[in-house]
Amino acid sequence: MAKARLDVAALVPEIRLIQDAELRRMVAQVWQRLWDESAFERLEDVPVSPDTPYPNVRHIQAYVKTAVAVARIYEEVHGTAYNYDHLIAGALLADISKLVEHAPSGDGYVKTDIGRLLPHASYAGHVALELGVPLEVAHIIMTHSPNAGTAPVTPEAQLFAWLDQADIVGFGYDIWHRKVVHYQ
Ligand SMILES: [Fe+2]
Repeated sequence: MAKARLDVAALVPEIRLIQDAELRRMVAQVWQRLWDESAFERLEDVPVSPDTPYPNVRHIQAYVKTAVAVARIYEEVHGTAYNYDHLIAGALLADISKLVEHAPSGDGYVKTDIGRLLPHASYAGHVALELGVPLEVAHIIMTHSPNAGTAPVTPEAQLFAWLDQADIVGFGYDIWHRKVVHYQ
């Protein structure tokens, strides 16, 4: 049986803030394409990572809201200009590669070949470009990971890369590891 269509607007209502109707449609189309290719049967079961078994969809819901809220604050206080269409579209697509980077296995999860062989987020970045999403949005998607080979350079990509990491703390995981060095 084919999986039910995803209602992206019900999951992440901020998609409605994207002014460009064509971009909104493309974002929903990328979600649907990766969901159709995913081995998971329930979106809620896709984890942030095999070692971080927290629902990826909640991570996305939180960081899209955070990105919009923080961009508005920085715009108001610092006068920084953001392209909200690009920021929201990029945030919505940044972590949906996880739908195909991970697969359910027994009681847990494993990395798929896509997860093992390609840099994180590159799969969704390629699908997004193929479906016509602007390069600036693909930049947000493909540079957001600390392991990405290219650093974020636009205000939207730089802000989002921080907020993605901040949300890891938001749902209770510790991302800090410090090595104490004693000089004598
Ligand atoms: Fe990510």
